Amino acid sequence: MQQSVTKVQLKRLHSQYGDSFYLFDKNTFIRNLHDFRSAFEKHYQNVQLAYSVKTNYIPAVIKLARQRGLLAEVVSGLEYELVKRVGYQGNEIIFNGPVKDDEELCRAFEDDAVVQFDSCEEIRVLKQYLCRNPGKKVRCAVRCNFDIGEPERSRFGFDAENGDAEDMYKDLFSIDGCDPIGIHCHFSTPHRSLNSFKKRTEKLIRFAQKVFSGHDLNYINVGGGFFGPLPEHLSNQFSYATPSFEDYGETVAKLMDQQFPSQKPVLIMEPGISVLASTMRFVCRVVSIKKIGKKQVITVTGSLHNIRPTHSSVEMPFHVMKMSQHENKVEGALIGGYTCVRNDILCSSFSGEIQTGDSIVFDHVGAYNIVFKPPFIRGAPAVLMIDEHNPGRDVEMIKENETLDMMFSAYMF
Ligand SMILES: Cc1ncc(COP(=O)(O)O)c(C=O)c1O
Repeated sequence: MQQSVTKVQLKRLHSQYGDSFYLFDKNTFIRNLHDFRSAFEKHYQNVQLAYSVKTNYIPAVIKLARQRGLLAEVVSGLEYELVKRVGYQGNEIIFNGPVKDDEELCRAFEDDAVVQFDSCEEIRVLKQYLCRNPGKKVRCAVRCNFDIGEPERSRFGFDAENGDAEDMYKDLFSIDGCDPIGIHCHFSTPHRSLNSFKKRTEKLIRFAQKVFSGHDLNYINVGGGFFGPLPEHLSNQFSYATPSFEDYGETVAKLMDQQFPSQKPVLIMEPGISVLASTMRFVCRVVSIKKIGKKQVITVTGSLHNIRPTHSSVEMPFHVMKMSQHENKVEGALIGGYTCVRNDILCSSFSGEIQTGDSIVFDHVGAYNIVFKPPFIRGAPAVLMIDEHNPGRDVEMIKENETLDMMFSAYMF
């Protein structure tokens, strides 16, 4: 449960930070990390989490992840630089992603980051680097791609079922200075099912046992793609079961324990949405209520860009905070965003009491919202951190409102 905010608090936050802002709940994040890890540690002793940086770029949040012992999982040179700036050391970074240029790769090799290769071109850069730097050791792995029973195969990594990934490992093991220490996969499926995690873990383990025969296997990394704690309003919108951390722990970690009874490689996971979604709320205000044809239309200072930029079909849970005494009722009203885009509709049918000036609080917006907000019509709002264990300090601003200067600093005027 997130710390609740009162009407008085919201009023003050609006006057200080404007008509829209995010609230990040520090303790929900810490609890999610703890609950995720302990669900796996119940069944397997050697567990390590990596923070999926692409899911949320807020430096204060990345810093918290580091304080809680997470590695950083990055997928570009930009993300790599971001986490270094936040305080991560090279050897605490996992470098993933389909596009890593030569310079970015060499910096990661130099820094002792773990590089998870996605193409032969990257391995060519590794060979050249090691020729120039004899005596240097580079820790690495290969992102493996299996058929896990989805209608389409993922486009990432090396196919582990046609010999390609195996050839890559043979090549890597033969290079002086190259130290393949683990194996990786990540699949993103809409259902995030236990069965799918069972399949990927089994295939990854079987493949690791084959290619690492006679070599030290330091880790098995099953990536992200888990469900996290969901409010009923969201879980009801899925036509399939939404497993808990406990369910995933039992499925994945138990398999690891059975397959590695004595020498236990580290089980790495890169959870994104599952540990971040429930950490943030988005607050906006009602600007107007009018009637067009038979439909009541409520316009707010938020947009789909703030709460559901990936255009998934789920409707985000929200509640109205009345900011004045009123009993103004609407029936089946549409809640539309600030953009001029016709389908910028935050809720297609709302019934209840609501009035101009009221606030609307959307839940569950901590994943992929901050990073996907385009510079379209309005700047990105401030982010305020709530810490219930620090009651003396009401909120801490961890990102300010984006101004015109910030948005246009790269343009020539
Ligand atoms: C390599 C990798 N790891 C982890 C994640 C996090 O996934 P999720 O947010 O579904 O947990 C992603 C997301 O795209 C990814 O590409």
